[in-house]
Amino acid sequence: MSSPRYPLNTNNRPIALVGLMGCGKSTVGKELSRQTGMPLLDMDTVIEEQIGKSIPEIFSECGEAHFRALETALLRYLAERRYDGERKPPIISTGGGVVMREENRRLLRQLGFVVWLNADVRTLLQRTARSSHRPLLRNADPEGTLRRLLAERAPAYAATAHYSLDCTRTNAFATARRVCKAAARYFAALRRSAH
Ligand code: S3P
Repeated sequence: MSSPRYPLNTNNRPIALVGLMGCGKSTVGKELSRQTGMPLLDMDTVIEEQIGKSIPEIFSECGEAHFRALETALLRYLAERRYDGERKPPIISTGGGVVMREENRRLLRQLGFVVWLNADVRTLLQRTARSSHRPLLRNADPEGTLRRLLAERAPAYAATAHYSLDCTRTNAFATARRVCKAAARYFAALRRSAH
């Protein structure tokens, strides 16, 4: 990887992105990784690789509850790891439903800096329209589903995140810059409070 344009001191802790399907976690995650030089870890991808099945296959063959247990197991593992020396702290792109378990919310906040990427339902719908890999949106009314999920989950996103931003009308570069600046302030404040 080429040298990062905006190196960031995160006290060796990860940055996690939470938010509804289509909010831009993967795109912003890639851009953040490019800007900071921190590796990107996409939880859905790691789970797919571990199990050897796609997310829709895991949902249909093993059930959503099983997928949720895999998410928690992965978060426990990530929260126990030490990120120093050779192992750089990652940018973690989470699945949209991860905040619905209390343990996951606690693990995410314990891990590092948590950012809620929010967007309006129209934008979420546009960004998810072309993909077929989201089992929860494979139904006759994806807009209604997104509306319901946003209402149900917004309090959990808000309770988990250290920082929230609306990225309805911004591009990934600008969003990633804002996340970097917020993370720099957060980690600097942590360092000051440790002295
Ligand atoms: C889910 C979101 C998906 C994936 C799974 C369930 C959800 O991830 O984890 O389909 O419950 O919102 P993305 O948010 O990356 O699409």
